[in-house]
Amino acid sequence: MRVDRLLGSMGYGSRNEMARLGKAGGIVLDGAELTDVSKRIAVTPDLPSRMEVDGQPLDPPPGLVLMLHKPLGMTCSHKEDGALVYDVLPDRWRRRDPAISTIGRLDKATTGLLLLTDDGDLLHRVISPKRHVAKVYRATLARPLAGTEAELFAAGGLVLEGEDKPLAPAALEVLSPVEARLTVTEGRYHMVRRMFAAVGNHVEALHRERVGGLALPDDLAPGQWRLLTPDEIDSLFA
Ligand code: URA
Repeated sequence: MRVDRLLGSMGYGSRNEMARLGKAGGIVLDGAELTDVSKRIAVTPDLPSRMEVDGQPLDPPPGLVLMLHKPLGMTCSHKEDGALVYDVLPDRWRRRDPAISTIGRLDKATTGLLLLTDDGDLLHRVISPKRHVAKVYRATLARPLAGTEAELFAAGGLVLEGEDKPLAPAALEVLSPVEARLTVTEGRYHMVRRMFAAVGNHVEALHRERVGGLALPDDLAPGQWRLLTPDEIDSLFA
């Protein structure tokens, strides 16, 4: 891909701006100034270790996946008012094409593991109910569990209010009278909250602990994010 096109698609600036930056010595590839930005290069994952723009390593090229420890109060949207999950990323990343989107959504009041990517195929593979990628939530409830919820959720077939299609089976592990871990393979709107509402309870706090084989790492504080390694991406489907 042409260097000016690559950098433009990563939000660094227009073709003209990249041409000026190249001429001024602001683009370095494999230790040498790259002054002709029409040069074509292979877009490989190791490019950030070989290329600098304005003295900084190149941003991750297209095909990235990252995880965010979503804090309370941030919305998974590109355009709503208030704090958005995309606000935690570098400004330039908003101008990337393909754009970075969340893989599914977490409610404003839900915390925990949120994945983002610019890879549409990967996004669909994670959210497709056919793939059975587990999403594991820890729910804190307003009222003690009745004791019948695990069997009901495991049987599948529960129909949420306003829907026709029954839910797939889901696994409930009771952690305390008012706390449970729920594993689901679908991603319907407000699904966990609505499942507990369907059994006469109310979710007070909801935290996603895991997606597939990938757990939210203990050292990732709320609001922090980092790129996934190739092994971590594979572990989503493990
Ligand atoms: N289910 C919900 O109700 N909310 C979330 O954020 C995720 C799953």
